[in-house]
Amino acid sequence: TKQKLWGGRFTGKTDPLMHAFNQSLRYDQRMHAADIRGSIAYAKSLTLVGILTEDEERRIVEGLKIVGKEWEGGQFKAQEDDEDIHTANERRLSELIGPLGGKLHTGRSRNDQVATDMRLWLLDEVKDVEQSLKGLIRVIVERADKEKDYLLPGYTHLQRGQPIRWSHLLLSHAFSFKSDLDRLRQLIPRISVLPLGCGALAGNPFVVDREFLAKELGFQSIAENSMWGVGDRDFIVEFLMWASLAMTHISRMAEDLVIYSTAEFGFVSLSDAYSTGSSIMPQKKNPDSLELLRGKSGRVFGNMAGFLMTLKGLPSTYNKDLQEDKEPLFDAVDNVSASFKIAEGVVATLDVHAEKMRQALTMDVLATDLADYLVRKGTPFRETHHISGRAVALAEARGCQLDGLTLADYKTLSDKFTEDVHDVFDFEASVERRESIGGTSRKMVERQISVLRAALDD
Ligand code: ARG
Repeated sequence: TKQKLWGGRFTGKTDPLMHAFNQSLRYDQRMHAADIRGSIAYAKSLTLVGILTEDEERRIVEGLKIVGKEWEGGQFKAQEDDEDIHTANERRLSELIGPLGGKLHTGRSRNDQVATDMRLWLLDEVKDVEQSLKGLIRVIVERADKEKDYLLPGYTHLQRGQPIRWSHLLLSHAFSFKSDLDRLRQLIPRISVLPLGCGALAGNPFVVDREFLAKELGFQSIAENSMWGVGDRDFIVEFLMWASLAMTHISRMAEDLVIYSTAEFGFVSLSDAYSTGSSIMPQKKNPDSLELLRGKSGRVFGNMAGFLMTLKGLPSTYNKDLQEDKEPLFDAVDNVSASFKIAEGVVATLDVHAEKMRQALTMDVLATDLADYLVRKGTPFRETHHISGRAVALAEARGCQLDGLTLADYKTLSDKFTEDVHDVFDFEASVERRESIGGTSRKMVERQISVLRAALDD
């Protein structure tokens, strides 16, 4: 019967349930390519210190490449005793090239190996995640550029506040995603730290050249302490935190769109491609895509919180608890990527109802502008706020809107009101007055679009 990789000191058999409990291959096989890359670099480093001859290195590297091809082609045959991706690849290598395969692990431990694989794998994934995030930002920016003419109320507390451009609202979400993009890029140097050569915990006794390894594998820096190198999973925590925050942004945008797609608001309708129906109510078209975006955020936070609990209280260096880093990370990567893509599709295909937005613009959203009108005539804002509030109350009592009050009515509130008060009741003019940086005027919306386009270009 076959030996386990670590079977030398064992006489008893592993309990079958324990065997399954311990086995991570079903999920860590996702890192097969990273594992092969790490092993090829390590074989080269062993040659440099004379553990392998050049011919042995060549045979090991060729063997590893065949194993890699088997994974890629879906031909790799996992065996009952393959505990994880590392043992599976080593077992297969030795089948292909014989006992020479057993030299590869000299001075290496699965502890430095797995940490290396995780970092390599995540560095690759981060590039894909960045592309999906950019895709989402791009569609928001393109929409915003086309729909600058649409005005609607901007809300605080979900109560109508001030008129804004629809593009301004869209871009507010794009800026959250832009900061996610910045933060994602800032994670890279902390993921790109080489653990290989840390050994089990104390370092590498064959004195492999870790600078060579870092260069071979494209790492920006080297773990300076071997105990830290095998035990650190902060890069995973940071990615999970990053993903949680990005999902918060997705969720808040989704919530805006859920609200705006109700019949009560009617500002937008979701395309059929991103909606589903009801099994009983034939009229229903539900925004399931948005609800799932909102829902998935909870799941990603759960991955973060769960893994922090796994880490907390672990003694130094490697403990098997750390194998529990994979499923939350993989799940977060999958869900955040899918969420960016779905959100991109939703935004790209949204039907926007400019007329409905316009109808929601009641004159009361110009009450701030009315107060500002008197400010420009020299009255302190605290007074003008009060006067404008009284105008709102008067209009309410009369059952009309602010522009339905006469000049005589306004004169009873302040003698500073003149004929030109009626110029205040113009939504476009209100929006255009917000022309300092960050405002909702056309020019400032255009400025936002160019800032975001520049971020997408680098
Ligand atoms: N499958 C393990 C993990 O994912 C690899 C490291 C195992 N190391 C060990 N000494 N048991 O963490």
